[in-house]
Amino acid sequence: MPSLTVITRDDTRREIQAEVGLSVMENIRRAGFDELVALCGGCCSCATCHVYVRPEDLARLPPMAGDENDLLDSSEHRTDRSRLSCQLKFEAGLDGLEVAIAPED
Ligand code: FES
Repeated sequence: MPSLTVITRDDTRREIQAEVGLSVMENIRRAGFDELVALCGGCCSCATCHVYVRPEDLARLPPMAGDENDLLDSSEHRTDRSRLSCQLKFEAGLDGLEVAIAPED
């Protein structure tokens, strides 16, 4: 299984085995990281699945859709490395992806 590294808000880093076909958010939640709330369940309407992606990983991800972009604008913690993890389908080609859970808004 491909791996996904998750960095929590207290800077703890953990590598998990990610299931292809699920979103990055679903993989993070399944692995037990409750601080990624994902309130809307992946409908792109809450922004509580906000993560930061390493600069070198950004180009491996699918482009951001308009609704993801609009929703991220509502976060005061948005940076140029921000993505909504529910909008990122985990594919085998994303093996080694590393994301940090963004601060709570
Ligand atoms: S889980 Fe709500 S926007 Fe991603």
